[in-house]
Amino acid sequence: MKGVLICGGTGSRLRPLTDVTNKSLLPVYDRPLIHYPLDVMLKAGIKDIAVVTGTEHVDQIANYLGSGSRFGCTFAFKVQEKAGGIAQALGLAEEFAAGDNVCAILGDNIFFDDITPAITSFEKAEGPERSRRGGHVFLKEVPDPERFGVAEIDGKLDGSFRVTGIEEKPKNPKSNLAVTGCYLYDKNCFEIIRTMKPSARGELEITDVSREYLHRQNLCATVLQKEWIDAGTFESLFRAAEMVRNRATL
Ligand code: G1P
Repeated sequence: MKGVLICGGTGSRLRPLTDVTNKSLLPVYDRPLIHYPLDVMLKAGIKDIAVVTGTEHVDQIANYLGSGSRFGCTFAFKVQEKAGGIAQALGLAEEFAAGDNVCAILGDNIFFDDITPAITSFEKAEGPERSRRGGHVFLKEVPDPERFGVAEIDGKLDGSFRVTGIEEKPKNPKSNLAVTGCYLYDKNCFEIIRTMKPSARGELEITDVSREYLHRQNLCATVLQKEWIDAGTFESLFRAAEMVRNRATL
């Protein structure tokens, strides 16, 4: 499985901090934000990782991460020239993925659950199990689902749920399960992305990729039990630092 760390976007909600550096290099207590999604991949044994960034501060990200030898992995850097959405960013990694499954994680997402078992079981699925599992998302119960992608789920299958509905930032959410920024897809995601049209906000939406897997009846989900943070705002970035500090000093 290949990793794709998506650090695109302009970070406009975090200005002026993001005038100085890329969002994913902002400090979360004692480490830059990017370490958290990167650790998820490293823990799951993913060693080939593409880092997709916008043109802003791409040099700083490459400087900081380097070749990957420090982390026991290798990095390939891809530049997303215009903010065209998360799915477009993932599409830039098609050649890099070379037909493999991908684990794509947004550079501002922090997971406190251990999601390694879900990644491993997606990777190992074979036969009929494989065809039921083209895509896998991670959901978290939140009080404000309208800010996120939102999913509906059905009965549990071998430790994961079948997704029955998925919408991007709905005005009237059908559940309180936010779709977090970690996506496991098989190689078909690239063919899906190539045929997609931009949404009303002019972006190729990652939720549309997941919805296509849902139409093909092979989208599953894990419901996270611990905290999850999208650290893309001042408030959530501050809360993330507090949580990491509390955990470190327990
Ligand atoms: C993106 C996705 C959304 C997801 C969120 C998680 O939203 O489009 O479905 O719930 O990340 O962090 P954005 O933060 O780009 O608005």
